[in-house]
Amino acid sequence: MYKVIRKILFLLPPEEAHYVSLFLLQLICSTPFTRKLLRNFFEPVKVSPITIAGIHFRNPVGLAAGFDKNALHLRELSCLGFGHVEIGTVTPQPQRGNERPRLFRLPADNALINRMGFNNDGVVTIAKRLKYWREEVQPYVDLEKPLIIGGNIGKNKSTSNEEAWRDYEFCFERLHPWVDYFVVNVSSPNTPGLRALQDRSFLEKILTGLQKKNQEMKNPKPIFLKIAPDLEWIQVDEVIELVLAIGLDGLVVSNTTIRRDALLTPPNTVSRMGAGGLSGAPLKERNTSLLAYIHKKTNGKIPLIASGGIFTATDATEKFKAGASLVQVWTGFVYEGPAIAKNISAASPV
Ligand SMILES: Cc1cc2nc3c(=O)[nH]c(=O)nc-3n(C[C@H](O)[C@H](O)[C@H](O)COP(=O)(O)O)c2cc1C
Repeated sequence: MYKVIRKILFLLPPEEAHYVSLFLLQLICSTPFTRKLLRNFFEPVKVSPITIAGIHFRNPVGLAAGFDKNALHLRELSCLGFGHVEIGTVTPQPQRGNERPRLFRLPADNALINRMGFNNDGVVTIAKRLKYWREEVQPYVDLEKPLIIGGNIGKNKSTSNEEAWRDYEFCFERLHPWVDYFVVNVSSPNTPGLRALQDRSFLEKILTGLQKKNQEMKNPKPIFLKIAPDLEWIQVDEVIELVLAIGLDGLVVSNTTIRRDALLTPPNTVSRMGAGGLSGAPLKERNTSLLAYIHKKTNGKIPLIASGGIFTATDATEKFKAGASLVQVWTGFVYEGPAIAKNISAASPV
């Protein structure tokens, strides 16, 4: 069934297809009856709830950052059976992002290339939206087994790397009452210079500042760091050291890659798409080895959330075996459709 819908959606440009499908999903979910139908259909049946960093996830499958950047579709995504949704990346000021087109499909590779550039409504608007969700919507739609919300935070394009820590702290404070956990995003390839924040000096300043603020709060929230798959091993070692020293709650492994090797899509077509992060199947192997490396190196001391090339239960099982505690999907959702959370949860071994 989704194969047919996908054929139609793929006739549209990728970004437009994304908004059209979310609009249609919202329409379908506009009555309690249809929401219940959807829930019954997509609710994962054989699930293992899991607790990480003190948070109880109703199942181990989440939606990765960048899908619902503005927290506009939590009710619908909850109906599709996700255990958690990571909103954002959220920046202090609203941003339009890069010029369109900025999202491309590579069907031969089950992949996407994007250079969205942190388009989002800004943290003030998004925090208001989350407050409304928490107080007016969630108590009526999924109180029994609540959807977990992650807040993925970043910096504005116009903020220098030296001042970046201010942007992260600003977003952290505004979102703190409304999200269950945080992800510090220093790994998107689409904000110039952002990935340099993975260097020890910048990272230490950002993370210690956030952790200090967090500890001063009445109810501290877990903080995760999202890393790029393109880090050298020596950089990965540095990240591990820092995460352990600061007592961060875990890592999201990983963001999109700037590499373009071993693609089936013709090189000319790929180069016409231009710069951006590649996601989906081509990311899978590198992502799994990164997970396995960190898990082994730390004796499993750092909780890991896997994000990269997960389409099926078999893919998810590989990530769990490599040491992940949770998995997230993005490109897989586009190619596999709305039953992806159910399909993955059904066969995952955790
Ligand atoms: C169109 C698009 C937008 C994305 N936006 C963000 C973002 O704003 N912040 C972020 O941390 N990751 C973002 N990502 C990366 C995803 O969260 C995910 O880590 C990555 O795509 C790898 O997973 P996948 O292979 O399942 O797609 C984006 C990915 C795509 C395809």
